[in-house]
Amino acid sequence: MTPKTASLASGTLRYFDAGSGAPMVLLHAFPLGAEQWRPQLLSPPAGWRLVAPDLRGFGGSPLLGPPAAMTIERYADEVFELMTLLGIESAGVTGLSMGGYVALAMLERDPSRISRLVLADTRAAADSDDARAGRYRMIDLVRREGPPRIAAEMLPKLLGSTSAREQPDLALTVERLIESNAPEGIEAALTAMKTRPDRTALLATVACPAVVVCGSDDVVTPPAECERMSRRIPGASFVQIDGAAHLSNLERPEAFTRAMVGGGQA
Ligand code: MLT
Repeated sequence: MTPKTASLASGTLRYFDAGSGAPMVLLHAFPLGAEQWRPQLLSPPAGWRLVAPDLRGFGGSPLLGPPAAMTIERYADEVFELMTLLGIESAGVTGLSMGGYVALAMLERDPSRISRLVLADTRAAADSDDARAGRYRMIDLVRREGPPRIAAEMLPKLLGSTSAREQPDLALTVERLIESNAPEGIEAALTAMKTRPDRTALLATVACPAVVVCGSDDVVTPPAECERMSRRIPGASFVQIDGAAHLSNLERPEAFTRAMVGGGQA
């Protein structure tokens, strides 16, 4: 898996590009990076080209600005800019958790550039007051104690008990991925997530094929909530991934990939 670099107006963005065929952009969760998509990138589904960027401030995409200035819309704009640089007018967009927030911001900006929408382990609603208070606490933590503390906080919520039992190495992989990020990038994402608007009303406007995917053991965005979200999207299907929790694409890669590209055209 060799990363590539694109020169955006705002600075360089690192991304992975694998497979050939209809383009599908893969947007990672907080606080990971494009390497979250390793199983899909190493084994792209037939007929699909997968493009997975490190969102600004994660992995190999340097932050280049104050964390307090980050927004979900800025991530979305940069993904569109990357698509343009790669000659991709429209693409499938798969967003997992925070990546889903970015996918919905892209949909709001320009639905004509999204040919298929896959929302995984995510929600359309804005942060509740409690969730926002949690973001401030995490900002304080990452400033004082750095990414390892964030990894320790997040890991128990990201992976399920089935993964812990059957794939003990996965926790280490995710921990390393989180810890490889710069604290400022993590802070920027927390800022972006706490200020994102409620995009629930947007769901009814989706005109492309859409799938909502959720791990059966997801405690961050539980299956019942994801299923409710799928019912707001015209024609969308809902796929529950048994034995996975929040990071369903990593925990059950094959089932996730099938749901991501199955049923419906790019
Ligand atoms: C994620 O996995 O991206 C996060 O759980 C999203 C969030 O904290 O809202």
